[in-house]
Order: sequence, then structure tokens, then C-alpha cells
Amino acid sequence: MKRDFLEVTDLTREEVWRIFDRAKYFKQERSRHRQEEILAGKHLGLLFSKPSTRTRVSFEVAILELGGTPIYLAGQSTQVSRGETIKDTARVLSRYLSGLVVRTFKQEEVKEYGRWFAFPVINALTDTSHPCQALSDYFTILEKKKTFDGLCLTYIGDPNNVCNSLVLMADLLGVSIRISSPPGYPLSPLVRQQMRNPQLLKVSTDPAAFIADADVIYTDTWVSMGSESKEKERIAVFREYQVNENLLSRAKKDFLFMHCLPAHRGQEVTDTVIDGENSVVIDQAENRLHCQKALLEFLHGG
Ligand code: CP
Repeated sequence: MKRDFLEVTDLTREEVWRIFDRAKYFKQERSRHRQEEILAGKHLGLLFSKPSTRTRVSFEVAILELGGTPIYLAGQSTQVSRGETIKDTARVLSRYLSGLVVRTFKQEEVKEYGRWFAFPVINALTDTSHPCQALSDYFTILEKKKTFDGLCLTYIGDPNNVCNSLVLMADLLGVSIRISSPPGYPLSPLVRQQMRNPQLLKVSTDPAAFIADADVIYTDTWVSMGSESKEKERIAVFREYQVNENLLSRAKKDFLFMHCLPAHRGQEVTDTVIDGENSVVIDQAENRLHCQKALLEFLHGG
């Protein structure tokens, strides 16, 4: 039976560890200029209805380096944007393609692709989740910290799609997760309900509440794709949650600063922090490539 990756919960803990092992292998092999043709003869579609730099390029390069062919489909240029159903689109694309990577709005849309597309479907971001980001973020944490034992990740700001997937992956891997967000902007109750180990989660409206214990300090944009009309209001609400030198004054010396990018410098993070010695944001972005190779291999039976 085909497997999709539409949510963090589509993988078991053991499968995530297997993917991490293979991502490490793919990273080493790439540094030695060696490649494996796991996707030889396969064409994979990238159907993106929102902008992307990292996800698109890392998937295209991953597919090419695994011997496959990526075909980029801008959502607005397909008949889906004119009302063709996902059911019809996915069944037709199944006759041309061996895999689909979808960036779209509603989680239900990626599920509908998963329902009707005959081969693996990967969620490349929806309004409520970004599982590929979480996968490579925890790989980066493991690479830098060597273990998840006793580790604490503090997320500050908007509990958005990236935060949702970070929470579910923390739950899967047994990592303590802390969220500081403004009153009225809590973590989604649906995500809380999905946690099997809710004791791993603590939340606060105080931006400084979880700084001192954090091994990883993570933030993301205050204005996600689709909320641009509320930009002014959101900047005012989140201002106190900026990750800056003052907020980090009580942080551990060896904390990692993470951000999935793109960053809005001067909003959720200052230049000093994102360019500082604790920041791993560029390594984090690079690891998207290695983890997605491992994910493609896993889903395509490599
Ligand atoms: N982090 C991330 O998904 O980046 P892109 O929007 O550039 O793909």
C-alpha cells in the first residue's frame, strides 16, 4: 500500500529515526559527490499554490539527485485554480507522475490528493501544518545536540503551521516543548488533542517564561502566507515576542536559534540574533534537502 506524508503523525517514531539515519547518509554522500538513483525513470510533480524558495528548490534538487525528474506546477496555472476537482486532477496526474509534493491552503486539500493520487503524496505546507519542516528541524537539532534526551525546545511568537508540526514531532520524539504566545493566540486545541504525551507541553503568555531552560529557541513569522491583510494588527500584538538580545539575556550559552525562514528581520527576530553565533538557520535550511531525500526514499520504497 502506498504511503503519504501529510502530517507528522503519518510516521512512527521508529520511521522518523530511520529517516534521520538515511538523511545523515545522504548528507555524507553528497559531500563526497556521490548519488543514488532511487527515483530513476520517475517523474514527480510539485504542485505549489503558495510561494516557496527552500521547499521548492530542495525538493527539485533532491528529486534530480535521486535520478528522477521534478515537474513544477504553479497552482494558479493549473485547472484546479479554475475549479477542476482535486479528485479528477489527482486521478489524471496518477497516469503521468509517480509522486506529488503539494503546497496549498487547507489540510483537507492535501488529504484529498492523498485519497485520489495513486502514488505517495507529500505535504509541502498547508495553513495548519509543515511536516517536512519539522522533520528536518529535529534532524538539525540532533545533528547539533547529539541527543534529544532532556532537550527543551522553546517556541516564541505565533503558534502557526510550523509550530503545530514542531509540537507533534516533539510529542513523537519525546522532546519537551514550550510555547510563549500572546493572549488570544494559543496553540491550536486540535494539535493539543493529538498529543500522546501532553505532559511534554507547557504554554505561557510571558515571552521570557521559558528562555532560561531552552536548548533550542525557535521563532517564525508573525504574518503567515494568507494573513497579509492583518499585518499591522499582528505586528502590534506580537511586538513583545521579538527574539532579541534583551529577551535572550537569560538564555543558556549553547542554545540553538532556529527559524524556518523566510525571516522578517526587525519583526520576529533581530539581525544580531539571526546572524549571531547561536543561529543555525542556514544549516537548518540545508538539511531540508537531505531529509527530503530520505523521505522520498522511504515513501518510494528505495
Ligand atoms: N521554510 C520554508 O518552507 O521555506 P519556503 O517557504 O521558502 O519554502
